[in-house]
Amino acid sequence: MAFLPFTWVRGLTSLLSPLRLLAAHGWLRESDVDAGLALLHPALRLNRVFAQVTQRHWVADDMLELTLRANGNWRSAQPGQHLQLFLERDGMRLSRSYSLTAVQAGGRLQVAIKHQAGGRVSPYLLEHLAVGDVLELGHAYGELSWPAAPQGVLLLAAGSGITPLLGMLRAALAQGFSAPITLLHYVREQGQRGFAAELQALQAQHSNLQVRWSLTAAGAEPEGLAGRFTGEHLAEVTQLDQRRVLACGPAGFVAQVQQWWQAAKLPGALQTEAFTPPAFSRDISVRQVRLGFTRSHQQALANNQRSLLEHAEEQGLKPAYGCRQGICASCTCTLVSGTVRDLHSGALFSEPGQPIRLCVSAAHSDVEIDL
Ligand code: FES
Repeated sequence: MAFLPFTWVRGLTSLLSPLRLLAAHGWLRESDVDAGLALLHPALRLNRVFAQVTQRHWVADDMLELTLRANGNWRSAQPGQHLQLFLERDGMRLSRSYSLTAVQAGGRLQVAIKHQAGGRVSPYLLEHLAVGDVLELGHAYGELSWPAAPQGVLLLAAGSGITPLLGMLRAALAQGFSAPITLLHYVREQGQRGFAAELQALQAQHSNLQVRWSLTAAGAEPEGLAGRFTGEHLAEVTQLDQRRVLACGPAGFVAQVQQWWQAAKLPGALQTEAFTPPAFSRDISVRQVRLGFTRSHQQALANNQRSLLEHAEEQGLKPAYGCRQGICASCTCTLVSGTVRDLHSGALFSEPGQPIRLCVSAAHSDVEIDL
């Protein structure tokens, strides 16, 4: 229940400065002030960023684009970055990160959410989150950037890897990017071609844009490709050796692109981002090691294959996290002693005082971390 319309929430932000000052000096508790402000509108907070859902739009059978309007505490981000969304469910605070597909003035932004079967967050957001509901937003992160490339750009996406690339593509075209752009999107089935209608419309509108889809679990469509990524799919890409390449998708897809890139010895630049959480390694035998959480004075037996984040949560600890895929650095902690293994690269780290990302690190020996 809100006593103020949302349009007032953004305007009131600057009027809260005196309260912010008092809270910053310890004269008021921020949580108390926030509780009072939330009675006026659930998105009205002293410093935290909350946003109201203003639109829901299905962009594929399993993907929804949410349009949000953030309160006045929102500071900008770049399309293609990832944004943490928080929600409370059954008394638990959950968070997941989704790609920003648009960032506009006045706190207007869009994120794309793909359905994850069995997930705790995306099914709820897709099925139950309604226009008018309010969510807390975390920080935006992500390193992909649109290249200044007069010779052209090649975008390679698999599955939900389309979402950050689409965010950057929309912005680049809106700013008049006129060099050739080729986008190949790999999906299992036709209904998973996220943003297909919009991409077709953009292709009709911009002669420098070419979009192709490849179905990996079905036959080729007319004028389409078939199967997983291979260098042969790039046969029609003009001036391939001069394109800047951005690839985004599951780790296996990104690894295929990297292999092709290295073999092709192209002179341009390759940017990649992999979405998949770290996988169980069959090359390393499973054994138990001892974990110590120094600040919380807890000890646990750990499996050397599972992430330190999972083990910490099993112990009832609540380390911060965002992407759970090694991208956002929200879960970074300090290694006190022992050796940890990077679950993506297999690299070992054992220098005390070293920052490690809990979500993509497993204990390689007995380990103590500052948590
Ligand atoms: S949660 Fe994002 S890097 Fe670990």
